[in-house]
Amino acid sequence: MYDLHEIALSLVAPKKGLLAADESIKTAGKRLATCGVESTAETRRQYRELFLDTPSIEKYLSGVILFEETLKQSSDSGVPFPELLEQKDILPGIKVDQGTEPMSDSSKETVTKGLLDLEERLAPYRASGARFTKWRAVIRIDGDTLPSAKAIMENAKRLASYALMAQQSGLVPILEPEVLLEGNHSRLRTKDVIETTMNAVFSAVDDIAVDRTALIIKTSMALSGSDSGRTDTPEEVADSTVEALKACIPADVPGVVFLSGGQSPDQATNNLSAIMKLAQKVGVPWNITFSYARALQSESLSVWKGEKDNVQNARAVFLERLVKVTDALPDVTK
Ligand code: G3H
Repeated sequence: MYDLHEIALSLVAPKKGLLAADESIKTAGKRLATCGVESTAETRRQYRELFLDTPSIEKYLSGVILFEETLKQSSDSGVPFPELLEQKDILPGIKVDQGTEPMSDSSKETVTKGLLDLEERLAPYRASGARFTKWRAVIRIDGDTLPSAKAIMENAKRLASYALMAQQSGLVPILEPEVLLEGNHSRLRTKDVIETTMNAVFSAVDDIAVDRTALIIKTSMALSGSDSGRTDTPEEVADSTVEALKACIPADVPGVVFLSGGQSPDQATNNLSAIMKLAQKVGVPWNITFSYARALQSESLSVWKGEKDNVQNARAVFLERLVKVTDALPDVTK
């Protein structure tokens, strides 16, 4: 049996982070459309191959979150992607939620689907090489009215139930209650919502005795809403984010990772750098790193454009971004 605490710690190893290559088929289609590529199983495989078979990524990545389709696909040289990652000493993981659905009494808020058959799906994922999992819940802010207590509570309960099942199946859970950037709210409102949501998540986690030492938290940064007309400085983001997380993430959680959530690659890099500096200065009990999708992949995608001839340049751009992001990370671990 693998030690889940050890796997969780490996995911937040010093100077390394996670690539979230787990876009659903629908989202991968949207990303491919931005560079004029039609979305088919084969073009999505090529898209994954671009990143997963980039030489030297193991210097910067501790793990990669895959989508179910990718778990069963192989590299150009015929190596199944999970095996390819294992060969590079990178932990393969899988997104196990099945997207969101509107809450029955509110069209603006959602709950995350996928619990019903989760137990049966987990063993095959593990047999395919996955060592950890991710479940994303979506929390929307709308002035003072959303999120509702009900949406927070229901998503928190589902995150906890998922985490327990993942641990019982020998897989580390990454609990991701994403607080959306969309909206005209202030940074301080985001900070409050992150705190309220995380408190609900940990209350649900404790209610059913999920092992807090064998999970990872994935969170948004505390940013002003994308329609607020305000761009926060990295120092402001760091102040609000570190204060929020210190107030609500228990000390025995091994790691906290950030999503990029629609920030530009430079913003996500600079904000992470400021968060890391402040976290080191004030002292936080958990290891921190990134778990980015768009901020790591978007620049490379626009160079690649689905063309074989562009692969080398696109990979160079991907590596350049990985170097910049990991430069923000401290050398020491907790
Ligand atoms: O669930 C969201 C992904 O894991 C992170 O994606 O960095 O583009 O927000 P993002």
